[in-house]
Amino acid sequence: CGIVGYVGRQSAQDVVVAGLKRLEYRGYDSAGIAVLSDGGLAAAKKAGKLVNLEKLLVERPLPTGSAGIGHTRWATHGGPTDANAHPHHDNAGRVAVVHNGIIENFAALRSELIGRGHELVSETDTEVVAHLLAEAYSGSEDPAEAMRQVCGRLEGAFTLVAVFADAPDVVVGARRNSPLVVGVGDGEAFLASDVAAFIAHTRSAIELGQDQVVELRREGVLVTGFDGRPAEVLPYHVDWDASAAEKGGYPSFMLKEIAEQPKAVTDTLLGRIDPEGSLRLDEVRITRGELREVDKVVIVACGTAFHAGMIAKYAIEHWTRIPCETELASEFRYRDPILDQRTLVIAISQSGETMDTLMAVRHAREQGAKVLAICNTNGSTIPRESDAVLYTHAGPEIAVASTKAFLTQLVACYLVALYLGQVRGTKWGDEIRTVIRQLSEISGEVQRVLATMEPVRALARSLAGHDTVLFLGRHVGYPVALEGALKLKELAYMHAEGFAAGELKHGPIALIEDGLPVVVVVPSPRGRSVLHGKIVSNIQEIRARGALTVVIAEEGDEAVVPYADHLIRIPATPTLLQPLVATVPLQVFACELATARGNEVDQPRNLAKSVTVE
Ligand code: G6P
Repeated sequence: CGIVGYVGRQSAQDVVVAGLKRLEYRGYDSAGIAVLSDGGLAAAKKAGKLVNLEKLLVERPLPTGSAGIGHTRWATHGGPTDANAHPHHDNAGRVAVVHNGIIENFAALRSELIGRGHELVSETDTEVVAHLLAEAYSGSEDPAEAMRQVCGRLEGAFTLVAVFADAPDVVVGARRNSPLVVGVGDGEAFLASDVAAFIAHTRSAIELGQDQVVELRREGVLVTGFDGRPAEVLPYHVDWDASAAEKGGYPSFMLKEIAEQPKAVTDTLLGRIDPEGSLRLDEVRITRGELREVDKVVIVACGTAFHAGMIAKYAIEHWTRIPCETELASEFRYRDPILDQRTLVIAISQSGETMDTLMAVRHAREQGAKVLAICNTNGSTIPRESDAVLYTHAGPEIAVASTKAFLTQLVACYLVALYLGQVRGTKWGDEIRTVIRQLSEISGEVQRVLATMEPVRALARSLAGHDTVLFLGRHVGYPVALEGALKLKELAYMHAEGFAAGELKHGPIALIEDGLPVVVVVPSPRGRSVLHGKIVSNIQEIRARGALTVVIAEEGDEAVVPYADHLIRIPATPTLLQPLVATVPLQVFACELATARGNEVDQPRNLAKSVTVE
């Protein structure tokens, strides 16, 4: 799941291990490293967290070398054992390779290799690549050429990085689908799944494109296509520094990222509102004419980004009157969706690398739809393959459970919805200006929520012994309830379910029993008073059946007071914008509850930050 490569003057082991640490947030369950030195190729690998590998490296140090590769693996096929950890080698131990992705034709290649006398010791697809690379290298004695030849034979999605004992100053990488970024330093070069791995050394980066091979030497890097032709490279400057990828005094990245939300929200709005108060989304390279023709919007995303998409549906339909559906990216393309040139597909993804979402994007474009990506990671695959992109500018999100990315995805969705309304004339200047002003004020409201979280933390600690927590909401509060439940599952490993409050009597109410905590997100009593009245009834219904009610309601909403065992106040906001403040206590609640249960919040078990397999 995380890849690092290095060549230069420093100790490759130190640079690679430090890089792997920076990628820990991506989620993994084993780790390994290989170093090239005058003595040849040496490797170490270990199941479990990086500390296990580090211990092994202290007990059995590798020779010092100035080129090396490293990997953190998140097990898909084959358990997280020492043997299955990367790197993998050929029989002679002359090639070491690390790999992300899946090689679909590996069984055929494996039998072919066995037929030629190779002995394969593992069942992994990666080992097959090591053998193929060794064969190809013995013919060409050129690492990049060997890599190109082998890639030409592989099917599936893969990113590979390899070193060869006979080429001590070279690291070679190849990319199809899974991310791979090059860092260019002074007399040194880096390769990694993302820039966090090398940001402490250089901020000059090159994003590798699809089907490209890169050769790293101290003197520089050379990028070619799988066909051997020199490739056009896209250098860019990373606009955040190493401190952005550090905890900065917070006990966890998640807490830091929760605290960064007011700034993240402001940064998403930055430069997108002109002095007259209307929107200027220059990055949306889909023409105004095309946007006027749009007759359907489909939002695709996974996990937390999907919840942002569910909320966006309410805003888009309300402000533009265009029908909008939000669909899980993993379901989308398999049901043969109806798409054409007049469909606008919005793909929401923090990482820009989620395979399910990427596949949905490709499918949508094949059908002729226009795709707009809402993404946080500069130059990642989903924006590269989309017609336009709106970056959320939340800064690096390291904790696996998404927080600031979610809030900024919402803001970006609102911007898109308003922009569509502006372009199509369904919303006029004054209304747009009003919402924009309300959006600009939200950052301060989020800050106020953050300042009042102590009672929420105390409540979370008091509930740490429970097995189940339910969440209820209506309208945009429903996806907020789903997000609250997802956070609790991800972090606290508790049974947590979100329901539309209106569905309560159609099933979930049977779950209510004495003392069961139920969190209820209450809409503003002002905007949609019908909804408010209905949810107050729902709270009464569950409380009458013994539920312990945790009510999230706007300041000044007195109607809920008699029925709330615990009351969490949020600032009054317009209905559609309420998720921006209502989600924050749920994030804090899940984080604190998980900590009270002794869980590691930044890297929850079994989860990965960026899921690059389908
Ligand atoms: C994983 C992460 C989630 C995230 C989802 C979508 O499941 O653990 O936190 O919401 O992927 O990720 P994306 O990068 O596409 O937003």
